Amino acid sequence: MSLQETLKEEIAKRRTFAIISHPDAGKTTLTEKFLLFAGAIQIAGAVKSRKITKTTVSDFMEIERQRGISVASAVMSFIYRGFNINLLDTPGHKDFAEDTYRTLTAVDSVILVVDSVKGVEEQTEKLMNVCRMRKTPVIIFINKLDREGTSPFDLVDELEKKLNIHVHPMSWPISRGSSFKGVYSFHEKNLHLFRPNQGVSDDDIVAIPDIASDELDARVGNEYARQLRDDVDLLSGVYGTFDKDKYLAGDLAPAFFGSALNNFGVRETLDAFVEIAPPPGARMTETRMVAPDEEKFSGFVFKIHANLDLRHRDRIAFFRVCSGRFERNQFYKHVRLDTQLRFANPASFLGQQKDVIDEAFPGDVIGLFDKGNFKIGDTLTDGENLSFKGIPSFSPEVFMELVHGAEKAKQLEKGIKQLTDEGVAQLFLMAHSRRKVVGTVGMLQFEVIKYRLEHEYGAQCRFDPLKFYKACWITSTNEAQFQDICRFRSGYIGTDKDDNTVFFAESEWMLNYYRERYPDIVFHFTSDFKSDLPALSSIK
Ligand code: G4P
Repeated sequence: MSLQETLKEEIAKRRTFAIISHPDAGKTTLTEKFLLFAGAIQIAGAVKSRKITKTTVSDFMEIERQRGISVASAVMSFIYRGFNINLLDTPGHKDFAEDTYRTLTAVDSVILVVDSVKGVEEQTEKLMNVCRMRKTPVIIFINKLDREGTSPFDLVDELEKKLNIHVHPMSWPISRGSSFKGVYSFHEKNLHLFRPNQGVSDDDIVAIPDIASDELDARVGNEYARQLRDDVDLLSGVYGTFDKDKYLAGDLAPAFFGSALNNFGVRETLDAFVEIAPPPGARMTETRMVAPDEEKFSGFVFKIHANLDLRHRDRIAFFRVCSGRFERNQFYKHVRLDTQLRFANPASFLGQQKDVIDEAFPGDVIGLFDKGNFKIGDTLTDGENLSFKGIPSFSPEVFMELVHGAEKAKQLEKGIKQLTDEGVAQLFLMAHSRRKVVGTVGMLQFEVIKYRLEHEYGAQCRFDPLKFYKACWITSTNEAQFQDICRFRSGYIGTDKDDNTVFFAESEWMLNYYRERYPDIVFHFTSDFKSDLPALSSIK
């Protein structure tokens, strides 16, 4: 088989996606259930214990275990119905939104988990806005139907209004909470009966080719049967048939109802996912579009994880293959450093378990062991100078001054550099005072930084709060204006790790004031100046 043919075949069976949700909606539970179905993990029965859930698969870092917050995204690869699936887990906590945002640059589609009791929560809205901006196809899993939640009509309405996307119910629940009977699938014309804690066995799937048939009444009772008929009547008038093209264009989200904890509705969602979700697609670089089936290899680093093994101090770069075939022990060009690198132990993932792989194809996410060569956004190619778009740093929103003594200063510098390379935080140096300012998108990161500096580098530090509202990168073609603002605002000007000039504003009013006063200065809200992605903070 030629490389071209191999690529086409491998690409067709790859599906790379992320599960996103507001914390506690059930993302971890759903992930575990997917892995169970695929036989990628073996835990008998439903995963009931949070403890098991949290310590088996998606925990990379000790801090994650201690806090029970999924701090960093993990990657899990598994095979289901002949498809090679790469699932990228994302931290639900809002302080790690930037990490999630970057993970979304590496996927081709998304499954969004919504809690049917709580409806659309703040974090769901933000994440969905990112998906919409990138035109990422989204499948919605409406979870916790075993609990007394909002009416499904209201829920779908809320999803459409708040997430600003058309929703297409693929199934419909029959009651909910303690009287939850199951779901009716519009497409398969069958009933999935719900039995708590048991999942769905073949006996619980009943074909109902005609919704008027008595079989429905016999299965769910007259009252619920009548209700379902009324609902279906109403729904078919409103939604018609499912339009896959609209889903692929990111304009329509198919929605499934279920209960991840009870293993209910999970398999249908996974089956629909492999059927309709897109295979790896073309990706834009600064210079040209890269098609996945190009023979020339390319890909980018979207995440860096440090010190998985504290004894070895190695880092692992999460790399998305975009085109061609990646091969172990081949030399590839590291575009930013203009150097050739090769990888003896590239890894694929199942939680903490890592397998060395010999080759990888577009859509695959692999782990490259790194001794400090990689930063987020770095590209590897067969030789061409490509740079993939849209993996920026965001304008931080929380600022602290990093204060430390002379003792272990070197260790601390090293640790901070590593954490900034990983994208945990950004470090700025104030031009005038030479003070070190750490900026993040959330408070929780400071705890992570302190913890990691202490545990991984034995370095102590203190963070003193700073009253900055925002830091923006500034550029200008008007040299005089640029010099002027830097002089006039010298106490509020600094540089980032790449020596770009950064402007600090104490308030929104101040920021607007200076934007008006210096019309020739461009204030950038992401470090990726050429990117057309808006600032994280503008994602309402
Ligand atoms: P997350 O990753 O999105 O943060 O959510 P996670 O899966 O950890 O689930 C959050 C809580 O919701 C867990 O309860 C989990 O058991 C529960 N849950 C998930 N799916 C369902 C469902 O379909 N129905 C119901 N009733 N609950 C569900 P917990 O109390 O935090 O932990 P645990 O001790 O129950 O495991």
